[in-house]
Amino acid sequence: MNSSAKNAAPGQAPQSNELWGGRFARGPAEIMEKINASIGFDRKLWAQDIAGSKAHAAMLAVQGIITEADRDAILSGLDQVAAEIAEGRFQFSTALEDIHMNVEARLKELIGEPAGRLHTARSRNDQVATDFRLWVRDALDRLEAGLKELQAALIDRAEEYAGTVMPGFTHLQVAQPVTFGHHLLAYVEMFGRDRGRARDARARMNESPLGSAALAGTPYPIDRNMTASALGFDRPTANSLDGVSDRDFALDYLSTASICAMHLSRLAEEIVLWCTPQFRFIRLSDAFTTGSSIMPQKKNPDAAELVRGKAGRVIGALNSLLIMMKGLPLTYSKDMQEDKEPVFEAEETMALVLAAMTGMIRDLTADEAGMRKAVELGFPTATDLADWLVRNLGIPFREAHHITGRVVKLAEGKGCGLSDLSLADMQGVEQRITQDVFAVLSVEASVASRTSSGGTAPENVRAAVKAARERFL
Ligand code: ARG
Repeated sequence: MNSSAKNAAPGQAPQSNELWGGRFARGPAEIMEKINASIGFDRKLWAQDIAGSKAHAAMLAVQGIITEADRDAILSGLDQVAAEIAEGRFQFSTALEDIHMNVEARLKELIGEPAGRLHTARSRNDQVATDFRLWVRDALDRLEAGLKELQAALIDRAEEYAGTVMPGFTHLQVAQPVTFGHHLLAYVEMFGRDRGRARDARARMNESPLGSAALAGTPYPIDRNMTASALGFDRPTANSLDGVSDRDFALDYLSTASICAMHLSRLAEEIVLWCTPQFRFIRLSDAFTTGSSIMPQKKNPDAAELVRGKAGRVIGALNSLLIMMKGLPLTYSKDMQEDKEPVFEAEETMALVLAAMTGMIRDLTADEAGMRKAVELGFPTATDLADWLVRNLGIPFREAHHITGRVVKLAEGKGCGLSDLSLADMQGVEQRITQDVFAVLSVEASVASRTSSGGTAPENVRAAVKAARERFL
């Protein structure tokens, strides 16, 4: 197999490459072969490479550039190559550099002369741009599907906890009571935007570079619309130079993935905090925690920590591709071979972290008593008291804020909550306060009152759950 990739006999220089070695007297130095080869990673593109070649061969025949007999030989040969790769019987060769030449060399072994006609009116430059686009397009679809599953889990849990009161934070200081369902739905919005970015990226990148050839187009009478539509692209790319040198689609994928990884990392950080005995807002089961080898009492949220940690890889991948591209003149440079590994690694990471996060969201249980205890700390209904002063006594909000501050200080001094103060205590600060004020000081009353659109009232959350199911699932 792959006889074109013969190694050198001891003491002899290796043979030149059969696919492009016409003007070469000898093959590459060992280290040259090693730095040059991409087959170790671009073999991942095999299905896309074969699909692209089949579309190209079919078009060449329709345009009368190759015969139908040659086309038939090429198509059935490519199917055979695909079967060999799919079944793990294919022998990849580093001497053949990349997936494109590995496939073509094997095709030649299988069908002989017609294989040499497949590369007519094509270059590896438009070939790799096409293959990689097809791969990234699928990756965007997988990202979107994974996000949808995560949203489904969040929406289910939000429905369950629509009325569960927890502290809402600003500056990680208790701010106002919210419901746990409302908090979970905030992430549904973020992941919905991530899905939108994936869809936007997909629509933008769905143009076929095939037929750009090396960089300038080709004198053959090719039909780029035909190959574009055979591969599910909306249209051919408009400029051949751009067609072979653009990697924006990979950057779009990585920036979408990076923003999504950032969202996942924020949620992961909250899960880590919520699991601590200091917060005690949620519990993860044994399925999503690990023990410590020295401290028997520990149950660590490792999966959440790793979702948080792995965001670094994805953001790193975006950086590495941006930096690789930023100095490249038009059109193709071999640097661009370095575009694939960051994308492959980011994609693998995204699949893993999305599945782990979806698992954790389905697994967690809210510790309603723990949330309750935390929400009593930090005077979370102080704003409700100020609002009561405004609405019932006609006091301007700024002044009401000031009065409330004095009431909070009083409660703090007594080591109690606002609703534990007596009416006399309150009236010591503002004489016109009446018994009615106590109705707004409970956390339940506080969340129930926040019925403004997008607010945290349990009835809003239930309606938002319903709307989210319609919008996203
Ligand atoms: N393996 C190459 C890559 O991934 C394919 C394109 C090679 N083109 C070339 N002109 N050497 O970028």
